[in-house]
Amino acid sequence: MSDLDIASEANKIIERLSMLKKDVDCAIACVSGGIDSTTSAVIARKALGDKVYAVFIDTGFMRLNEGIKVREALRGLIDLEVHDYVDQFISRIEGLEDAEEKRIAFREMFYTTVKKIAEEKRCSWVVQGTIKADVVETVGGVKTQHNVLNENLLQKYSFKVIEPLIDLYKHEVRSLAKYLGLPNWLVERQPFPGPGLLVRTVGKMYRAKLEIVRRITDLVERWFSGRGFSQYFPAVWEYNVIDSRGIDELKYDVYNVKVTGVLEGKRTYGHPIVVKSYPMGIDVYNIYSKFDYSLYPHVLIEVKSRDTGRYVVALRIVKTKNFMVADIGKVDLVELKTLAEEIMKLEPEVRLVAYDVTPKPPATIEYE
Ligand code: XMP
Repeated sequence: MSDLDIASEANKIIERLSMLKKDVDCAIACVSGGIDSTTSAVIARKALGDKVYAVFIDTGFMRLNEGIKVREALRGLIDLEVHDYVDQFISRIEGLEDAEEKRIAFREMFYTTVKKIAEEKRCSWVVQGTIKADVVETVGGVKTQHNVLNENLLQKYSFKVIEPLIDLYKHEVRSLAKYLGLPNWLVERQPFPGPGLLVRTVGKMYRAKLEIVRRITDLVERWFSGRGFSQYFPAVWEYNVIDSRGIDELKYDVYNVKVTGVLEGKRTYGHPIVVKSYPMGIDVYNIYSKFDYSLYPHVLIEVKSRDTGRYVVALRIVKTKNFMVADIGKVDLVELKTLAEEIMKLEPEVRLVAYDVTPKPPATIEYE
């Protein structure tokens, strides 16, 4: 969008929200540190003034020191209240294993918490950062996006919802954020899922694994920041191989954990594969096409391994415009080995670091 288009889009949104002003007692805008929720909060604030409270709920699944960083970044644009609900979230979700169950439990906890905060402030409205792709994917049955509320949920929590960005795609949200004066690092920041590190603590959720994800996330984000990748993050699961096989000259392991994919707009759910060896000169970015996508949605190649340790770290690096389809962010394997060494130095329990070479589709960007 051109500057002019963005200015008129911003005005349109502000006008649309301003029409609600007389009906809105007050509204809670939940900011996660991601671009969507932050931009929604700022534009809602512009339209509805001090009827909007920006709230950061620390769910325990956020990045290192996230609440403080985002509060500082928004200083002058909007005051951010940080609420600590870490123990409540973790104790509800600890022990859950199934991706959809984890997402649903998170969403329930999240809205129960929002409801509590809204009641404390006597607000009946909630501002959400839902964008167009979230709706398309939930309606299409790809996954339960944590921020898309259906009619039942709306009734259950009895919120009235304001969704300023519902007609925009991610790149349009970025232009809008810039126009609104959000700091550059936030505008250019990669998206972060609503359930946060929960969906990157793949399989059974427990604290030790979550803390490893959090620390490696910090390292990986610093490593790839500013290099033009759309998203780059680690995910962690247990080193638990259920099958070791070969096709042609490829040798690979199948892991005992479930990960998500997407085919023809529908979700798939299967095991990740890590290819341990392959013929010289092969195009690694095409290896995934040798496997059955519906059974093995994510295909990775080994970067570095050692003989001990409990965990696999998957490195996910993608390039995409709209997040509905994505290409692999290509990184030289020599560089990835150096990064893997850093990860292994930081985390003695990491046994294997692997690089995901599956585009979306057939993989999803996240693993759950
Ligand atoms: P997938 O994994 O579906 O991700 O290919 C597409 C984009 O959406 C982000 N994502 C989420 N964002 N709430 C969000 O706000 C969620 O529940 C959620 N799940 C995935 C993901 O990081 C990627 O940018």
